[in-house]
Amino acid sequence: MYKKILEELKKADNYISGEELGEKLSVSRAAIWKGIQKLKEQGYVIEAVSNKGYYLLPEQDLYNEMEIKEELNTKKIGKEIYFYEQTDSTNQCIRRLAKEGKPEGVIAIAEIQTAGKGRRGKSWQSPKGTGIWFSFLLKPNITPPEAPLLTLLAGLAVCRAIRQQTALEAKIKWPNDILIAGKKVCGILTELDAEMDSVHFVITGIGINVNTEIFPEELQKGATSLKIEKGEAISRKLILKAVIEEFEKIYLQYEKECSFLPFREEYKKYCINIGKELQILGKQNFTGMGLDITEQGELLVKKETGEIVVVLSGEVSIRNLL
Ligand code: BTN
Repeated sequence: MYKKILEELKKADNYISGEELGEKLSVSRAAIWKGIQKLKEQGYVIEAVSNKGYYLLPEQDLYNEMEIKEELNTKKIGKEIYFYEQTDSTNQCIRRLAKEGKPEGVIAIAEIQTAGKGRRGKSWQSPKGTGIWFSFLLKPNITPPEAPLLTLLAGLAVCRAIRQQTALEAKIKWPNDILIAGKKVCGILTELDAEMDSVHFVITGIGINVNTEIFPEELQKGATSLKIEKGEAISRKLILKAVIEEFEKIYLQYEKECSFLPFREEYKKYCINIGKELQILGKQNFTGMGLDITEQGELLVKKETGEIVVVLSGEVSIRNLL
């Protein structure tokens, strides 16, 4: 009921009485009063004046299931959304939802993650109120070796969304960290449920530091937030909506063409590894010069010996940067 009341309050540009709301929604005034209390509990500021009724203060930037659903304009990604005040990890939520048979595109968003996961077994700090922590389910028709491409595509979507919404110069550190002014603002963790030759599903989890003001000491050197870079608070809802919509555009095209090629030039334009001295930490550790991103989304590196190698995955650090 409170969702319907919210819709009516948003439609009205002035006070609307409990009686009128009750008539519109065919419920008692007491039920309306209860619904209003529930909305207030969720953070909505609603003025109540006797003889006039209720008035929802405009321009409230709330971050909850109703607001996010209302904003989204997509066909597949985010048709079903689960919003958690607190959960372990939204990647885990999606894994559970996938096992329950939920369709491609279902999204899990959390206000707080108690066991946020980073890459390489690291944890991901996910405090309340300042960041976007979310994951979605994909069921692409690909083989396991093709899966890393989805991470690149998600990185591109985040990069586009940040640029669009904030005009900040977001860049991509291959494969998928998003940096502003050389510091990390977003991390992406893609997990697979697959057999040797077929992918059952893919979980893409994205963490964006939006309004973080202070990072724990161990992160201070390398991490930043949109607010720190822009010098003003940024709407999480608008960033999230832009990321989801950009990702959907990219994903639908990728599904049709089954290729990274349409995105390669744009990805390269934002990618900061090219022309930089890199250190690759993986199965092999070596240093070299970042040369190019291939049609398959791999990183080409020229070793100090002159040999050119293809890097498929691994931790890449850029000298004099992070
Ligand atoms: C990285 O190490 O850079 C990847 C970080 C990914 C963090 C996001 S937050 C939402 C989703 N849920 C998780 O537990 N991790 C990802």
